Amino acid sequence: PRFTMTVRSSNAVSAGVAPILTKFKHDCATPLPLLRHVADAMAADMRAGLAVDGGSDLKMILSYVDTLPTGNERGLFYALDLGGTNFRVLRVQLGGKEERVIATEFDQVSIPQELMFGTSEELFDFIASGLAKFAEKEGGKFHLPPGRKREIGFTFSFPVRQTSIDSGILIKWTKGFAVSGTAGRDVVACLNEAMDRQGLDMRVSALVNDTVGTLAGARYWDDDVMVAVILGTGTNACYVERMDAIPKLQGHVSPSGRTIVNTEWGAFSNGLPLTVFDKDMDAASINPGEQIFEKTISGMYLGEIVRRVLLKMAAEGALFGESVPEKLSTPFVLRTPDLSAMQQDNSDDLNVVGSILYNIAGVESNLSARKIVLEVCDTIVMRGGRLAGAGIVGILQKMEEDSTGLIFGKRTVVAMDGGLYEHYPQYKRYLKDAVKEILGLEKSKNVVIEHTKDGSGIGASLLAASNSKYEHDF
Ligand code: GLC
Repeated sequence: PRFTMTVRSSNAVSAGVAPILTKFKHDCATPLPLLRHVADAMAADMRAGLAVDGGSDLKMILSYVDTLPTGNERGLFYALDLGGTNFRVLRVQLGGKEERVIATEFDQVSIPQELMFGTSEELFDFIASGLAKFAEKEGGKFHLPPGRKREIGFTFSFPVRQTSIDSGILIKWTKGFAVSGTAGRDVVACLNEAMDRQGLDMRVSALVNDTVGTLAGARYWDDDVMVAVILGTGTNACYVERMDAIPKLQGHVSPSGRTIVNTEWGAFSNGLPLTVFDKDMDAASINPGEQIFEKTISGMYLGEIVRRVLLKMAAEGALFGESVPEKLSTPFVLRTPDLSAMQQDNSDDLNVVGSILYNIAGVESNLSARKIVLEVCDTIVMRGGRLAGAGIVGILQKMEEDSTGLIFGKRTVVAMDGGLYEHYPQYKRYLKDAVKEILGLEKSKNVVIEHTKDGSGIGASLLAASNSKYEHDF
């Protein structure tokens, strides 16, 4: 009997955990009516944001990208990408319709933590010096006609009030950045000043959000792409809008009659199923009350929400035994990639879950505790994926309402990018299933949700090409 006792107790978790889990799952639930409500609210907020500036949580920013890549783009172009945990530089030699992408090269560095809290000059000096080092190594298949400057497509993935295709003012930082001195300034001017300090003579031809770069990059290969969504550190979506559906637009004429609108949907907040853990995380964040959709569904935050739930379960339900593991109190120790790694563990004893918990949070766990941890992860990932799906439906719905048949009457592609979408299979599955569930069989059969790898970088260079200051003379 003693032997059985020991086995049982090592595999049991205290009764205090169950009510916390039940309540948490209840608060995170996303039944179909709730998803429909979120999709409708997204569509309504889009309209309100298009009507007047400041009309809704959604900024509905005009990108000044009025023509999408055609395939005819030619020449050597650079792209810079700043927006999350990494900074990327890329060069591409474009060869027009026949040859398309002749060659690409890229480099990537992670952004040192201190730069996220430093000064604007420090951050832009870092970018410009990375670019300078990369540009020095140009050769081989890359070729610039004499007398021309190297041109850059600058992907800057924060809310920017665009003032033209190659200028825009940072409204505010998101995703944990708190750099001083950039908000309210033209970020292209910031980059130009830093390039001057480096003695680097290049010019920015296009300033774009990562969603816009992704849409352009995906459109280069597929004419049916109408929407682009990023699910990575942060989240956002853009789409192709008719000029006559943008009441707030004044004096801006697009020859194509269409333009890309950057929704900045991370700021959406209507009707979301939020828990006490979400509210506490928001209150402790550097931007309380802002980016609520982003905090509910994107990669920067999912791990942190799970950590907060586990901490409560450890403290009030002895999830990991009598004492609360110290490391579990450190904000952001548990990262979303850790959740994904744990959720891919198919072994009987869940030893991957066990070792991740041990390595990350110094937690010793028995099998029942590991199962609970997986349930918490699954709950948060299901909520995130399904809400992201509802957001996508909201955009499609809005477009279809304005032009019947545009979206559901033919093939429509939603281009997806970002580490969360790419590396978290369960998230992707929940998202796609939710889109089908909300739209139903008939409408969803024409909607293709597709991952575009590196779309944003190539897309930004394509937009630098189509907005080049030089004649397309070669
Ligand atoms: C944040 C930024 C937005 C960006 C998104 C994805 O929400 O505000 O501009 O597109 O993250 O990177």
